[in-house]
Amino acid sequence: MFAGQLSDEATLAELYDIEHDEITEDVAFYREWARRQGGAVIDLGCGSGRLFRSLLDGGATRIVGVDGSPALLARAALRIAADPMLASARVAGHIETMAGDVRGVVTAERFTLALLAGVIAHLDGPEAAVRAFSSSRQLLSPDGVLIVDTLGPGGWPPHDLPLSLDWQRRMGERRVVRRSQLSRKVTPEGLRVDYETLTDLVEADGTITRLPAGFRLWYPSISAIVALAAEARLEVEAVFGSHDLEPLDERSERCIVVLRGATGGPGMG
Ligand SMILES: C[S@@+](CC[C@H](N)C(=O)[O-])C[C@H]1O[C@@H](n2cnc3c(N)ncnc32)[C@H](O)[C@@H]1O
Repeated sequence: MFAGQLSDEATLAELYDIEHDEITEDVAFYREWARRQGGAVIDLGCGSGRLFRSLLDGGATRIVGVDGSPALLARAALRIAADPMLASARVAGHIETMAGDVRGVVTAERFTLALLAGVIAHLDGPEAAVRAFSSSRQLLSPDGVLIVDTLGPGGWPPHDLPLSLDWQRRMGERRVVRRSQLSRKVTPEGLRVDYETLTDLVEADGTITRLPAGFRLWYPSISAIVALAAEARLEVEAVFGSHDLEPLDERSERCIVVLRGATGGPGMG
């Protein structure tokens, strides 16, 4: 996800945290799903563990966070240590994080709730999504559900953007200036977007460290998600266009799909 040197990764992970921790509109949604499902939760692509506290507050008996970024898992460890509730859950063995790829998570444990929140966009495309869905299905207990949460069509960038200023903020002694540009391409399976970001760390003495990063995002359409889930032998239980459970339409900012293992049919296993 992050380009550049390892120390740059830690800085970018810290910035990622600052940006993502501002997202709170889904907290009640995940707390409620943890309450509704009860039992163990696996947060696939957990990042720095932004959702851990709401899952615990919802009564999750165990939380396993998996992510491919060591820098973000290090941030998750800091988050757990800084929150007394998360810290004591960790001591009791109720929270664990592990490095892994969501396209093939292997553990003997089974979960009543699996999350792919904000993760599908980071996968290469349909083939990777089917692998992630199949792997997630195998992690579910018989009554378990997988929630796939991604940007809805109303949140997709409507056109290419030239290099533009996103934000400026203070980080300790430094001023941080973030610029980005994007180019987009409509494909049959959704929207592909290439982002390039330039993060300038402006020191107190005026010197600048510039951290370039590039990533490619994929925003699948709802029809692509449903078809790929079916390939992975998952069936749709519910679809929402927001964390307030509004129906999905062209203006929806989110596309949230609740999936269960398909019942019956040839080749079930
Ligand atoms: C936008 S963040 C979402 C983090 C978290 N789920 C949340 O909602 O705050 C996407 C995360 O997916 C992780 N990720 C992307 N592709 C992955 C893969 N193939 N395996 C494991 N983690 C992956 C990234 O490292 C990043 O932490």
